[in-house]
Amino acid sequence: MIRFSSLTKRYGPLTAVRELSLEVRPGEVYALLGPNGAGKTTALRCLATLLHPSAGTASVAGVDVTADPVGARRNLAFLAASMGLYERLSARELITYFGRLHGMDEARLSGRVDDLVDLFGIRGFADRLCGRLSTGQRQRVSLARALVHDPPALILDEPTLGLDILSGRTIYDFIARERAAGKAILFSTHQMEEVDLLADRVGVLGGGVLVAEGTAEQLMQRTGAPNLARAFLALVAGAADR
Ligand SMILES: Nc1ncnc2c1ncn2[C@@H]1O[C@H](COP(=O)(O)OP(=O)(O)OP(=O)(O)O)[C@@H](O)[C@H]1O
Ligand SMILES: [Mg+2]
Repeated sequence: MIRFSSLTKRYGPLTAVRELSLEVRPGEVYALLGPNGAGKTTALRCLATLLHPSAGTASVAGVDVTADPVGARRNLAFLAASMGLYERLSARELITYFGRLHGMDEARLSGRVDDLVDLFGIRGFADRLCGRLSTGQRQRVSLARALVHDPPALILDEPTLGLDILSGRTIYDFIARERAAGKAILFSTHQMEEVDLLADRVGVLGGGVLVAEGTAEQLMQRTGAPNLARAFLALVAGAADR
């Protein structure tokens, strides 16, 4: 459903992502880990068609992101760590506006907006302007906006950044439900609990290179670490030595 094939992204002389290949199947949650600057956001932005790969490719639901970015976008939701919202639209207007951009018909759209407003606990501030929302409220609206067209692939860059425990849990529940519905979910995080709770598989990026991939259990076995945090540290320390 989500596939990277030897994707490389350079910023001038810096290679931020080097020959990345990975796959996320329908009904699978894949966590992308890596220290600051490892290339997680870069890889996810290439997948979301916001950056052009320098070499290699990626596809979503079989649609190549470079050859057909509009088609690829139809099949994916992208949540960025710092997402701008239109400050002068209300939360409900914003979600509705993005649904229209995706060409949804009005009857289906209004039902979908109501569902998302309930799902993410937005009802209490649905008619407030986005410019006046708190960080966590904005994050929930960003998520609803990204998901309005109900795509089969979800790409979430640090989805719980800045959220309180309750809001974080709303997102965990949501991810679990989407997995059960057969969606392919790729997310980046620095939170090991999140990985333990949610991820079927984990990929570790170090210096733009995928240094390890597997279940949390497999990564712990491979490094002889007692928990995922230790396994992660061992794997990225190894990457720095290359
Ligand atoms: N637009 C850009 N121009 C030049 N270099 C960039 C640009 N965006 C990112 N980089 C560099 O590319 C590398 C990878 O950055 P990226 O944002 O993908 O890392 P990350 O894994 O998401 O890190 P974090 O955990 O801090 O979010 C970093 O060295 C960063 O400084
Ligand atoms: Mg990032």
